[in-house]
Amino acid sequence: SLLDEATRIAREFDYPAEQVQRGVAEYIRQSNEGLAKENTTLSQIPTFVTAVPNGTEKGLYLAVDLGGTNFRVCSVQLHGDTTFSLTQSKIMIPRELMASGTSKDLFLFLARQIEAFLRIHHNEHFEAHLRRRRDGNREEDLFDLGFTFSFPVRQIGINSGTLIRWTKGFNIPDAVGHDVCALLQSAIDDLELPVRVAALVNDTVGTLMARSYTSPGETGTFLGAIFGTGTNGAYVEKIDKITKLQHMKDVHYDKSTGEMIINAEWGSFDNHLSVLPSTVYDRDLDAESNNPGIQMFEKRVSGMFLGEILRRALLAMHNNPMLGLFKPNQTSKVSLPSDSLFYRQWGLDTSLLSQVEADTTKDYVDVKAALKNHLKIENPSNDECEAVKILVHAIGKRAARLSAVPLAAILIDNNKLATDDVVDIGVDGSLVEFYPNFEGYVRDALREVPEVGPAGEKKVRIGISKDGSGVGAALIALVASKDETLRN
Ligand code: BG6
Ligand code: GLC
Repeated sequence: SLLDEATRIAREFDYPAEQVQRGVAEYIRQSNEGLAKENTTLSQIPTFVTAVPNGTEKGLYLAVDLGGTNFRVCSVQLHGDTTFSLTQSKIMIPRELMASGTSKDLFLFLARQIEAFLRIHHNEHFEAHLRRRRDGNREEDLFDLGFTFSFPVRQIGINSGTLIRWTKGFNIPDAVGHDVCALLQSAIDDLELPVRVAALVNDTVGTLMARSYTSPGETGTFLGAIFGTGTNGAYVEKIDKITKLQHMKDVHYDKSTGEMIINAEWGSFDNHLSVLPSTVYDRDLDAESNNPGIQMFEKRVSGMFLGEILRRALLAMHNNPMLGLFKPNQTSKVSLPSDSLFYRQWGLDTSLLSQVEADTTKDYVDVKAALKNHLKIENPSNDECEAVKILVHAIGKRAARLSAVPLAAILIDNNKLATDDVVDIGVDGSLVEFYPNFEGYVRDALREVPEVGPAGEKKVRIGISKDGSGVGAALIALVASKDETLRN
């Protein structure tokens, strides 16, 4: 029957304790390889950020953020007492700019959004700058801007880095290998805006910095992670362990803390699938993506992909004549129009998973609303709704349990649980924010790792750092603008 088949498919998404443990051991191996060498599956990118903030930082900074669900421009006033005020505007990136077109089109679009933002929120400053410019005083009064660019970038310094590859559905080939700070600066200069791109920041690094600013403890924040459209993490590593730094030429950074934030790019953990679970739906999703064989961990964990995994599993049931999922018959008046996003690759948004998982009504009120609003599916039977729920739950739970793998591995490998009473982790992203009990499933899996166990899991403090990466980018822009030696 429908429900038996849904339960059978759901079981393919089981990710039991022993697999979590195997994943952790392999993560530790791949992460150490990434600290020693280039071109490994885990990039372990040195960020040249060598300290986390303590909450006393002050000033007004701009930040832009590209790579999550929305592009955003914000200005951040850091008050210096662990608080800040944030003014921001969010815009969806037009799809055609993400996956066709040139990098020039994309960066000009970003610069235009910055201009519109300055006009609306900082017009006086903007006008004053234009006046001074007319008087020939060109360098006066620039805003320092932190650029949160949530893609893998080979950083050369705090304000420059070249794009390694696009992820999360972006695909603008001519940008790969180029310095994304320079591309943004050049678009900003084309529009003659009073803005200097002072720092390049991954969203995970921004999240880590922001969390550390707002909740500084004796030890600061150790790790920042995103579970949203994509997934990734950044953490504080000992410089001595980043042995590949010794082979990097012309890099400048402050060595005094002995530490540096590493952007793990864990979306590409285990691209060769030595330990990751794989169903036929995972394999087909990958084969038909624009970057097959890459971001294999992310394709099992993050928002952009979970909807597509679900869509493929449901589609298989729909196409199975024995089951007739979403097909009208004598007893069912379900309707699924042919232009439904159900039939379109990437048509199914992760927010549908969150809404379905959140439904606790016995007649599936929220499941029905979600199917209707997202997919134009009307009048599904209760069994059809239950089948959707079973699959959603299985796919979401596997994602959360997989998310425990890098967290546990990084905690263990840095000996955090043995030395610290509390380990602080800042997180952001639509999945961890909206998928019901995501953190709970992560914690269940953490406890199942013997080197963490219930005692270790209790030491882990996880806090949402909502929209934190803008604040984080401002903090890094501040560090960069104060310390000229950091500039390349
Ligand atoms: C936002 C951050 O809040 O979360 C972004 O500002 C980040 O930098 C994003 O990329 C991740 O979540 P999502 O769900 O938008 O991908
Ligand atoms: C992708 C990007 C990474 C980013 C993550 C979360 O994995 O490659 O840089 O941090 O998504 O947005």
